[in-house]
Amino acid sequence: MSRKLSTFICQNCGTETSQYFGKCLNCNSWNSIVEEIKRKGSKQQDIKNNKKSIPFNEITSKTISRFTSGFREFDRVLGGGIVPGSVILLGGEPGIGKSTIVLQSAGKISLSEKVLYITAEESLEQVKIRWERLNQSSKDLKIFAETNLSLIIEEIKRINPSLAIIDSIQAIHNHEMESSPGSVSQVRACSSELQTLAKENNIALLIIGHVTKDGALAGPKTLEHLVDTVINFEGDNISSHRLLRSIKNRFGSTFEIGIFEMLEEGLREIKNPSSIFTNKENTSGVTTTITNEGSRPLAVDIQALVNKTFYSNPRRTTTGISINRLHQILAVIEKHVGIKSSQFDCYIATGGGFEINDPSSDLGVAISILSSLKNIPPLANSSFIGELGLSGQVRKSNNLRTKIEEAVRLGIKNIVVPKLEEELHNNFQNLINIKEISNIKEAVDYSLSE
Ligand code: TYD
Ligand code: MG
Repeated sequence: MSRKLSTFICQNCGTETSQYFGKCLNCNSWNSIVEEIKRKGSKQQDIKNNKKSIPFNEITSKTISRFTSGFREFDRVLGGGIVPGSVILLGGEPGIGKSTIVLQSAGKISLSEKVLYITAEESLEQVKIRWERLNQSSKDLKIFAETNLSLIIEEIKRINPSLAIIDSIQAIHNHEMESSPGSVSQVRACSSELQTLAKENNIALLIIGHVTKDGALAGPKTLEHLVDTVINFEGDNISSHRLLRSIKNRFGSTFEIGIFEMLEEGLREIKNPSSIFTNKENTSGVTTTITNEGSRPLAVDIQALVNKTFYSNPRRTTTGISINRLHQILAVIEKHVGIKSSQFDCYIATGGGFEINDPSSDLGVAISILSSLKNIPPLANSSFIGELGLSGQVRKSNNLRTKIEEAVRLGIKNIVVPKLEEELHNNFQNLINIKEISNIKEAVDYSLSE
């Protein structure tokens, strides 16, 4: 006997209702609700009854033996490699390079583990062409071109790999549901079935999902709370740099980044990323700051262009830092350095457009602005670190030690920082010229003298 179950699901946010509405009650989007019909057979769920609770003390904590993704940068973002049985969601815009990175990774992993790559978007021949271009070698890599979830599950069970890759979740479908592949309910239903399979059989699962910046393909977004690890693959069409960024990680810290370059022959890891976001030129309007991304310090240039405005509302644009941050820094400059910022247009761009979230970049932004405005290059071969308080003071920054170490490693001669603890000062005083300042005025006097 089969029975029809109907629910109405918002394709934007995934909210379920039992009747149709023109406007979603949760996210207020119009015409986003679609009827989803699920035919439920009288299939008996085979419930295993061999599990029972055990005393907590009896559990021995064996260290998780992760396996490498084949890329050091990828491993870092994963928290040290792939945890067996974990579910990883790799999201990113179409065309950014998700299939490329997983195929390269699959090849490397297959040298020591059994890997099954399920291609639901491309044919076997297309994947082969890509493979040849990537110049990979493999051992235990199996490939399966299929879009039907039941067949995919059967194959995963048959092969029983250490890692199964689904490329992509939007292209597969559960034939018991009438909605089309890629709809929120298909994406969710397929993922949860795959996840159960992975957990029961201790198979790591890497699910690829297309996500667009404007959220037009929202399906994978609704999976974020289901999976163990969420990684975004970012970049733009202009530069060849690609960033892996962990957004959620049950097995490691978040906001780790891994940096790659897309070349003709695939993705290559960048071992010394500070070198790609800095230019080491000494021109007015450019400073270098050192930010913290996850566990890693990274030197990034901050460029400012400040011009007299011809508008009643001066223009302010930013690439790589938030516009609100710029407004705040301009207000602090106006009040505590005594410069009428309302008379100037101000444009800020970070090196390579790298997105900086660390507030300790404030000082670099402020000095870049003032350097451009005064047309004086900042102190040569220097780096600026510190968060600007609203009263003009330069506040402590997180992880100052690792940031100063990075400056030393990069051969930077001068570093302008907030007041340091004595131990830290003593540690570095012979390695780099340290200028400790307590407010923006002191920083300007020191680094922008004519
Ligand atoms: P792809 O991995 O297919 O993207 P996604 O799976 O995220 O949709 O990457 C496609 C882009 O990458 C395409 O524009 C071509 C480029 N590319 C290279 O530059 N070099 C390569 O070796 C490969 C395989 C792709
Ligand atoms: Mg792809």
